[in-house]
Amino acid sequence: MKVLITGAAGFVGSRIARRALAEGHQVVGVDALTDYYDPEIKRRNVKLLTGSNFEFVAGDLLDQDLKSLLDGVNVIFHQAGQPGVRSSWGRDFEIYLRANIAATQQLLEAAVGSQSLRAMVYASSSSVYGDAENYPTLESDRPMPVSPYGVSKLAAEHLCTLYARNFGVPTVSLRYFTVYGPGQRPDMAFTRFCKAAVTGSPITLYGDGEQIRDFTFVDDIVEANFAAGFGQVEPGSVFNVAGGSNVSVNEVIRTLEELSDESIQIDRRDAVSGDVRRTSGSTAAIQSALGWSPKVSLKEGLAAQFEWARESFGTAT
Ligand code: UGA
Repeated sequence: MKVLITGAAGFVGSRIARRALAEGHQVVGVDALTDYYDPEIKRRNVKLLTGSNFEFVAGDLLDQDLKSLLDGVNVIFHQAGQPGVRSSWGRDFEIYLRANIAATQQLLEAAVGSQSLRAMVYASSSSVYGDAENYPTLESDRPMPVSPYGVSKLAAEHLCTLYARNFGVPTVSLRYFTVYGPGQRPDMAFTRFCKAAVTGSPITLYGDGEQIRDFTFVDDIVEANFAAGFGQVEPGSVFNVAGGSNVSVNEVIRTLEELSDESIQIDRRDAVSGDVRRTSGSTAAIQSALGWSPKVSLKEGLAAQFEWARESFGTAT
């Protein structure tokens, strides 16, 4: 199969690319290598993607000839986008509009009429729910984002559904719940916390730490992408992809203290606008449609990320 991975240099995209190459697929990766975080991290991710089956295109999706990029492509894993829940306020929202909404719409437009395409998997987000109506939250619960980022992810998800309904583009949206694991983005909580545990520096805690997340290990996310990309689903489908952990940030910090055998200093800050109080996703729908369920427990996954942090950021004593 020929697969196109947008955001191929990022945390999730690069992991999908690695697996696709290992399975013998022909892979085209595209990534704008933006400087939202150190682009050197992304370049390192790309360097791990080797072989004659791999082609890398460095550039913004909106500057590409997308029809040619999609030529002969069977599966698109659309991971590209501007991440960051708490940084999506203010003038920077324009970046989110372009990267998350306009780029997705152009990709969908280019996919219309493709004879080869069997699936376009869109990396949506639990942030579309905001402070949800119900827990565990169902895909049919009303999405009410509380951050501009969540609004942009929801808008792009609606575009996927629209293009499926109107033009038969075989989209599947996966609502990722806070993805973690080795290689996690440096702006996210676990990477920051693990780095602090390894280096003995304080962590910054937003709010009282009682916010709950349904943290999801990256390998489970990759597995869900492959199930959606190569399985049979109704075009326009939307699924939660949640790890089932449901723990508070305070509990995560306690687990890290056990793993590192150190007490972690905490620099307390006010809660940040756009941060939801709780996420918890029902995975009944994806289980029944694609047979997917999370396999990696938080304890196992956090230990793997801590080990990675130890190797990357120094040696804890
Ligand atoms: C994450 C991703 O960053 C989003 O791209 C994604 O769409 C979203 O998950 C999602 O699931 O929808 P978030 O849940 O905020 O967003 O993930 P983290 O950055 O890992 O933060 C988790 C919690 O830790 C948040 O409540 C945050 O305020 C807190 N945190 C984060 C801190 O207390 N200190 C930090 O230094 C970083």
